[in-house]
Amino acid sequence: MHDAGSVGSSAPRPHRMLARLADRVWLHLAESSWPWINVRSEEHRLLMELDPARIPRHVAIIMDGNGRWAQRRGLMRTAGHRAGVRSLKEAVRTCAKLGVEVLSVFAFSTENWQRPAAEVDMLMRLLTEVLREEIDEIDEAGVRVHAIGRLDGLPQDVVQQIRAAEARTRANRHMLLNVALNYGGRAEIVDAAVRLAQDVAAGKVSPETVDEESFSRYLYTAGLPDPDLLIRTGGEYRVSNFMLWQLAYSELWVTPVFWPDFRRVHLLQAIVDYQRRHRRFGKV
Ligand code: FPP
Repeated sequence: MHDAGSVGSSAPRPHRMLARLADRVWLHLAESSWPWINVRSEEHRLLMELDPARIPRHVAIIMDGNGRWAQRRGLMRTAGHRAGVRSLKEAVRTCAKLGVEVLSVFAFSTENWQRPAAEVDMLMRLLTEVLREEIDEIDEAGVRVHAIGRLDGLPQDVVQQIRAAEARTRANRHMLLNVALNYGGRAEIVDAAVRLAQDVAAGKVSPETVDEESFSRYLYTAGLPDPDLLIRTGGEYRVSNFMLWQLAYSELWVTPVFWPDFRRVHLLQAIVDYQRRHRRFGKV
């Protein structure tokens, strides 16, 4: 069974009023002095509207539009992936500062192998490069790295780099950065079903006891809350085989902005919009 580890579930939440007050003070300080919130007026307006007590626990992102971003500039598609790293760094920093517990990013899908070999090679190299170059900042920010997907299908050096990043950040608790690599939502469900069937065959589990909760413990995301918010850049209205099980009740936010142009202000827009919605989970 996979275990991505539980996040924030055991710590009792402080009283809501006190938490809100503390967060107001935090925001006030942030605006007046913290360098990272040297914000333009739109960011300022969004930060004022943001309810710090209702930050989504889990944000998932489909980082789409790198290729189109590059092609519009007459560049190779790979230049778009490289430019997308900045957006990823900004998203990680912002989510960590806002108190998001889990940030999941779709970095490479099981279908992405069908791209030209040079693009696939470049993406693999970029991945190892980013993990190597950014690991210090990630670690210092208290972010834990975890990869989900069929990692055994990735090049050996990529797997090694991922395992090294996971090992180094294992004790970090501030935020989980969940990187989906060689990931497919259907493949994940199949893998979970196979493992469950093995446990049934071994007599460890009886089929009548299987329910949604116990099944979800066989997914790559075992122990994690489902995404509250799914952000998709690049303007397409689909989930593209990403977290099919986990997105059942997630709020979707799609922007035409291509991933390399996705800035903190867009993330704030998504979260403010999320907070305006009424989540009913199938109820009235
Ligand atoms: C989709 O854009 C994007 C990807 C397949 C890769 C995303 C990768 C990064 C942002 C690089 C950094 C990631 C990590 C985890 C280090 P696309 O190529 O499908 O764009 P298009 O829809 O315009 O063709």
